[in-house]
Amino acid sequence: MPTLPRMNNDTVATPSPADLRERLVEDLISDGVIATPSIAEAFRTVPRHVFAPGASLEEAYARDIVVVKRNEHGTPISTVSAPEIQAGQLEQAQITPGMRVLEIGSGGYNAALIAELVGAGGHVTTVDIDPVVTDRARSFLDEAGYGQVNVLLADAEGGVPEHAPYDRIIVTVGAWDIPPAWTEQLAEDGRLVVPLRMRGVTRSLALEREGDHLVSRSAHVCGFVKMQGAGAHDERLWLLRGDRVGLRFDDGTLEQPSLLDGVLNTEPAAVWSGVRVGRTEPFATLPLWLATTLPEVPPVARTPAVRSLGGV
Ligand SMILES: C[S@@+](CC[C@H](N)C(=O)[O-])C[C@H]1O[C@@H](n2cnc3c(N)ncnc32)[C@H](O)[C@@H]1O
Repeated sequence: MPTLPRMNNDTVATPSPADLRERLVEDLISDGVIATPSIAEAFRTVPRHVFAPGASLEEAYARDIVVVKRNEHGTPISTVSAPEIQAGQLEQAQITPGMRVLEIGSGGYNAALIAELVGAGGHVTTVDIDPVVTDRARSFLDEAGYGQVNVLLADAEGGVPEHAPYDRIIVTVGAWDIPPAWTEQLAEDGRLVVPLRMRGVTRSLALEREGDHLVSRSAHVCGFVKMQGAGAHDERLWLLRGDRVGLRFDDGTLEQPSLLDGVLNTEPAAVWSGVRVGRTEPFATLPLWLATTLPEVPPVARTPAVRSLGGV
């Protein structure tokens, strides 16, 4: 980690935004999040704090989200995404100079990083459903010197046909499905990076065309605010044992919820999957394997508080 600037032997100068950017980039490189030199350079160049005016400098350059807007329940619906999520998606996108890129879900900062990656010969469009977000993004991008980025107000369910085709489409909001417009507006050899929620777990996928379908080149578990508009989707949550156990279903419904009455009070029956996970082996792919192998079985997450109830 780079040392912070010193005024003299006992006074530490307040780190400048450039110092904080450098420290963030060094952290992301040493943790293996950033591997591509042009992405490191983009993070060194774009002033993240300009896109988060309500946050302190420390907060703007922390490895965390900055909340821009919450809904009436206090749930974040617009954020400046965490730097590792942004770096991870940019690594997945493999953007090169001259590309045409569509970003879905605005804020300005990530669009500015993309503008650095595509360079003067490239083209960046960012679209958001919320006028507060697009107004802020437009003014922050202008202030930071990225006036060339197109900022549009629209529901991204229909994509942005006027600037298509895109070499890259990067979705920065949690999606439940891939609307036809996104693949229609993707160049033949293009790449779609999208956080897709599958049975309770969201993964950012890097998708490319292969024949008549899409294949995933990489997948990272991540979290994003939920899609609004025509592509919004509500998970079904069934609460059992008061509200202490929740069963979450991506879609469909329980035809006879009464069958679950008291089910968690019975003696547990353990059925082993036969899959063994080594001590240091990552098992983020296990839920996907279970979801595709045992599609009728919903995952149940146990918190320590629920475990202490016994019988579960
Ligand atoms: C995590 S934020 C985007 C972060 C941003 N890319 C950045 O620079 O950090 C997600 C955004 O997606 C937007 N959004 C949600 N549903 C949308 C939709 N259907 N079409 C376009 N934007 C949408 C929200 O308004 C929110 O501002």
